[in-house]
Amino acid sequence: MNFCLLKSSLTEYIAKIEAECFGTEAWTKQMLEESLSSSNTFFWGAFDDENTLVAYAAVLAADEICDLIKIAVMPKLRRKGIADALLKFVIDDIKKKCVKKMFLEVNAANTSAINLYAKNGFTVLFTRHNYYTGAQYGCKDALTMTAEI
Ligand SMILES: CC(C)(COP(=O)(O)OP(=O)(O)OC[C@H]1O[C@@H](n2cnc3c(N)ncnc32)[C@H](O)[C@@H]1OP(=O)(O)O)[C@@H](O)C(=O)NCCC(=O)NCCS
Repeated sequence: MNFCLLKSSLTEYIAKIEAECFGTEAWTKQMLEESLSSSNTFFWGAFDDENTLVAYAAVLAADEICDLIKIAVMPKLRRKGIADALLKFVIDDIKKKCVKKMFLEVNAANTSAINLYAKNGFTVLFTRHNYYTGAQYGCKDALTMTAEI
């Protein structure tokens, strides 16, 4: 697996992962394009041996603080350590921009993601009740997590 910062020319491939991983909650191509062209938002990807984008992560950084906005791995490639390796790569890279602290919001029922974050040093700051409003959310609570990086 190879990891690197992504360029906006890959929007189409990121959108494919979004659709597979987030269904009705997926960001549209236009939302991705806006984020990719923003000067404080960064996308990293994981590429397999055939150079296909199979996972990505997005971070919004301002001064010494950043937010992990998304991390997603294609369903057929999960539980192989890809998200763990990608998150470590992202943290190493964003630290080069003098970022010292990372925050994120995660659905309180998303055990896979919560375990991934906990494994990488994130702790729960607080629970935000009824954070998610859509009918599709079984659990509407969000955890705000943070880590010194
Ligand atoms: C969350 C997600 C990114 C994990 O990706 P992954 O590549 O399968 O994760 P990894 O194989 O690197 O696993 C790393 C750690 O995450 C946790 N984890 C991952 N999948 C898990 C599962 N199904 N159940 C419990 N813990 C899990 C474990 O702690 C694991 O470490 P371990 O293997 O030593 O137990 C992936 O499930 C995904 O894309 N989910 C849909 C998108 C999403 O919800 N993203 C997060 C919010 S933006």
